Amino acid sequence: MIVLGIETSCDETAVALVQDGQEMLASLVYSQADLHARYGGVMPEAASRDHLRKLPALAEEALEKAGLSWDQVDLVGVTYGPGLIGPLIVGVAYAAGVALARDVPLVGVNHLAAHLFALRLMAPPLDPPFLGLIASGGHTLLVVVPRWGEYQVVGGTRDDAAGEALDKFGRLLGFPYPAGPKIDALAQDSDPKAIPFPRPMLESGLDMSFAGLKTAALYWLRQHSGAPLPELCASFLEAVVEVLVEKAMRAARRFQCKKIGVVGGVAANHRLRQVFPARANERGMDVFFPPPELCTDNAATVAACAFHRYRELGIADPLSLSPDANLPLHGWR
Ligand code: KG4
Ligand code: ZN
Repeated sequence: MIVLGIETSCDETAVALVQDGQEMLASLVYSQADLHARYGGVMPEAASRDHLRKLPALAEEALEKAGLSWDQVDLVGVTYGPGLIGPLIVGVAYAAGVALARDVPLVGVNHLAAHLFALRLMAPPLDPPFLGLIASGGHTLLVVVPRWGEYQVVGGTRDDAAGEALDKFGRLLGFPYPAGPKIDALAQDSDPKAIPFPRPMLESGLDMSFAGLKTAALYWLRQHSGAPLPELCASFLEAVVEVLVEKAMRAARRFQCKKIGVVGGVAANHRLRQVFPARANERGMDVFFPPPELCTDNAATVAACAFHRYRELGIADPLSLSPDANLPLHGWR
């Protein structure tokens, strides 16, 4: 079964073709980062218009790359939330149009569930039960996954997402949006203990807060001029990484998960990928990271999730499928 996956929930236009939920025949991601760089964040109206401009051509390009024609597509999977409503409308309308024209089923996908499906696209795949940490620019959640299609959200950020904190910190330093990859690169050969940034809410519970960390960094920058950028980045990143690692391990212990799967854009981070496995192994847990291109927004994970919903859960959606900007993961199959 060939699934066409479509992702337009934020600032990446992505199209993928995946066979039987596992084999990636094509996965194309077009980033709008340059478009939004000058605004310091994603400008929703500009994002919608750019998805509309780019999506049809990207779908044609993906088919060509996979060596397929339109009549070989068996199913269309599309992100219908959570995300920015304008961009979601563009993706869902396009997907419904393809489903109608090709007379194939349409399956709506939750963007957060799609992130988790990166763990199923790994070779070998990570099988539930596991504790999922989703750390992206829009979300930071801890999710117990007893089986695919069942998601129990057990913790998460009360304010900024981990990636959002990195992006906002980068903005203070004058970096263009999104700043995560640049902070990652600058931090790599520097001392993560150089500046003692706080670790908010580290000691208790499964909730997180990153807004306070950003404010602490703002005050620190006002009081200390001329600190080297690599030290600043390494120290700030270390605070984010330590909170993510500690909270995920606490959740895994509490819910008796021996495996932790880390997804979302921040899961591409080198320091997180270095620190987490070592710490988890000390406590008898294993940590799994999909390849970086499956951690950041893409449509292969959307196609994999759509395949699971259709084939294993027997779910298809009407062509009137409505985007939901605030679609929760709890209770979503
Ligand atoms: O999952 P994603 O591509 O989009 C959302 O669903 O939000 O995540 C984007 C976020 C941004 O905040 C970006 O700065 C961050 O992931 N990010 C990184 C890295 N690559 C992307 N953060 C740290 N290190 C990276 N290498
Ligand atoms: Zn995402």
